[in-house]
Amino acid sequence: MWQLLPPAALLLLVSADTRAADLSKAVVLLDPQWNQVLKNDRVTLKCQGDYPVEDNSTKWWHNGTLISSQTSSYFIADAKVEDSGEYKCQTGLSALSDPVKLEVHASLGNLQTVSSFYPPWHQITFCLVMGLLFAVDTGLYFSVQRHLR
Ligand SMILES: *[C@@H]1O[C@H](CO)[C@@H](O)[C@H](O)[C@H]1NC(C)=O
Ligand SMILES: *[C@@H]1O[C@H](CO)[C@@H](O)[C@H](O)[C@H]1NC(C)=O
Repeated sequence: MWQLLPPAALLLLVSADTRAADLSKAVVLLDPQWNQVLKNDRVTLKCQGDYPVEDNSTKWWHNGTLISSQTSSYFIADAKVEDSGEYKCQTGLSALSDPVKLEVHASLGNLQTVSSFYPPWHQITFCLVMGLLFAVDTGLYFSVQRHLR
């Protein structure tokens, strides 16, 4: 086992080295952090990445199209349904970020149909707790019965 360590450690060093040579990826942050918002909401997309000195310009893509905003934060004051889609950003010293999805919903009704796809966790938790109580109860019942005999 111990003989295996040095080559493995060397491999780790080498891979860490090649990763450091690459530019780190920029990250798109949403503020507020929800990726589902309502029409007319305000959303700020922030690009987190490395900037060269004296160059704070940032490239933004919406649905794969370069948009005109070049500031590190892309501010949407009055969200429209067309603002939905995938956003990516890149700074002078970072690689293109992974896409972040923003969904702008026309009304709360649409938002709720979307969230009803998620399982009702409180109901699942309730069933699990009841199941557990039942199991404990049954166990107690049989052990008491055994003691009485
Ligand atoms: C860069 O930063 C300066 C000073 O904070 C600011 O005036 C300028 O608008 C910024 N430019 C971009 C493209 O963000
Ligand atoms: C971007 O894509 C989303 C989802 O596919 C769409 O709803 C939105 O209208 C598109 N917006 C633009 C400006 O292309």
